[in-house]
Amino acid sequence: MALYISGSNRRGNCYRILNDLRDEEDTLIALADKSINYCLGCNACMDYLDSYCIMEDDDMQEIYDEILKNDEIIIATPIYMNHITGILKNMIDRLNPFCWHDEMLLGKTVYLITVGQMDEEENADIAENIKEYFEGIGEFLGFKVKFLRNFTSGDIRTSDNITKMYKNYEAIIRKLKREIES
Ligand SMILES: Cc1cc2nc3c(=O)[nH]c(=O)nc-3n(C[C@H](O)[C@H](O)[C@H](O)COP(=O)(O)O)c2cc1C
Repeated sequence: MALYISGSNRRGNCYRILNDLRDEEDTLIALADKSINYCLGCNACMDYLDSYCIMEDDDMQEIYDEILKNDEIIIATPIYMNHITGILKNMIDRLNPFCWHDEMLLGKTVYLITVGQMDEEENADIAENIKEYFEGIGEFLGFKVKFLRNFTSGDIRTSDNITKMYKNYEAIIRKLKREIES
């Protein structure tokens, strides 16, 4: 059982890749479909033990539950302005409760996929930065990070079907699946 999270603002290439990777029993969350409030910066979560966060009425509650339930979390993010998307960053900020109640994410592995319109090579440094960003968070939240692949989706005006970019798309998916399962 694994959790798949698409950090795209639409059901585009990230969603497609994750949907092709997952098994039926796995959970796939598209952040584009979710309503997640910004972290208030109140730090009430430092000693708020009734729940994760005092904002209990948004879709983050479901995401907290899913994150705790799954030891393998596969995140695909579009590259936006050389980094992850705002909605994914917003979700990550809301992981603040796990900073105070440490070890809740210990033993979990976050697998990363990036998708950008530029060539894989052109985006190699950006993908590395994103990996290092997650590794930094993993160091204090307790999860490990494995980078799976940096995809290119091609020209942004037509880049809505990743399968057209890769003749060997199905083989790539099979390989990534093996990496997640190993
Ligand atoms: C606001 C915005 C910023 C973007 N910035 C970049 C970028 O810095 N580098 C890049 O390679 N692609 C960039 N792109 C292209 C997307 O990464 C690309 O279209 C990707 O396929 C989006 O993922 P999705 O299909 O899952 O939505 C940007 C797209 C948008 C809408």
